[in-house]
Amino acid sequence: MIYNREVLRLLSTSSLKKYLNSSGALQRELLAEADRVRKKAVGANVYFRGIVEFSNICEKNCYYCGIRKGNKAVRRYRMSFEEINECLKFIERVRYGSVVLQSGETTFHAAQDFLLQIVRHIHKRYPAMGVTLSCGELSFDQMKELKEAGAHRYLLRIETSVPRLYRLLHPRDHSIARRKQCLKDLRVLGYQVGSGIMIGLPGQTDDDLIADLRYFQKNDFDMFGLGPYVIHDQTPLVTPNVRAWWNDRREEIFQKTLNFIAILRILMPTCNIAAATALEVFHRTGRVEALKAGANVIMPVVTPRAYRHDYLLYQGKPCIDEDATKCSGCIVGKVRAAGLVPALGIQGNSLHFIQRTKG
Ligand code: 5AD
Ligand code: SF4
Repeated sequence: MIYNREVLRLLSTSSLKKYLNSSGALQRELLAEADRVRKKAVGANVYFRGIVEFSNICEKNCYYCGIRKGNKAVRRYRMSFEEINECLKFIERVRYGSVVLQSGETTFHAAQDFLLQIVRHIHKRYPAMGVTLSCGELSFDQMKELKEAGAHRYLLRIETSVPRLYRLLHPRDHSIARRKQCLKDLRVLGYQVGSGIMIGLPGQTDDDLIADLRYFQKNDFDMFGLGPYVIHDQTPLVTPNVRAWWNDRREEIFQKTLNFIAILRILMPTCNIAAATALEVFHRTGRVEALKAGANVIMPVVTPRAYRHDYLLYQGKPCIDEDATKCSGCIVGKVRAAGLVPALGIQGNSLHFIQRTKG
């Protein structure tokens, strides 16, 4: 029985494992506690971020990801300034409050200049809009320039905090140490820093997930974007064995992700936690379930329909044939259905960030 978050804070590894794998009455209790903690710490508001997947060009080759550099079947694109501006107008019109600019990792100068131009434009033309970047590992100076241009949040999932597992999922020249350093640099630069992992990766143990929770606490992140691992056939990670193994574990991965979100909410009550779109590969109500389990941010895709089929990090991504207008009504309804409050027209910054930086 969970009585309060102080209890959970002190929980041993074996209890955390029990909650991570809970189902039935124990799981209901965990999710209800997470909901209570959320309402007390950050209220019933759900914040919106319109996500613009502005380019699928990537210099990296993560073994799990559909848009990795090595996937020659992907049609590469980069949205124009005007196309991105149309998305910004839409976000303003439907009052999502914030934009997330997401892309593959491109560190060369032209890409950086383009991103800077967009961020400056948002700062000037849409001064009330929150700006989150999710563009991979950039240099300290690049992240600094973007911060000065008006970006104030950065999402960089660690994917897994465990070096052994990180090695299995990435080529040799991808460095977990470098990624961890980037997350530290973002904090030094004054960003609201978000990280996260995938849950249900081949080779991932419960101990690994508990190490991730400890890593999150230790690094005192402000925001989280975490979701289930979903197979993509055009990636080296997916062998016939892995496909069969993953298909057998679908429900387990889904439930474990919800449990992980709930535990994270209890451990870090004032953080922002996003309800991952990938959850809807498993159930149509996936994001609503995550909101009920303690998530308080939703990131509707506003990428134009013409590009949605080319931004498939994983298979079965929902809504790739919908346009953003339809998604907007649908998602606001989903939030209400979860008994939560769609907080439209406000940025919804992380309370954890506000508290750690005040005074
Ligand atoms: N399944 C789920 N999430 C994935 N991502 C990349 N590939 C997959 C996949 N196959 C996630 C990574 C990355 C984010 C942008 O998308 O966690 O950080
Ligand atoms: Fe590139 Fe990100 Fe995909 Fe890795 S996960 S290949 S960095 S888009």
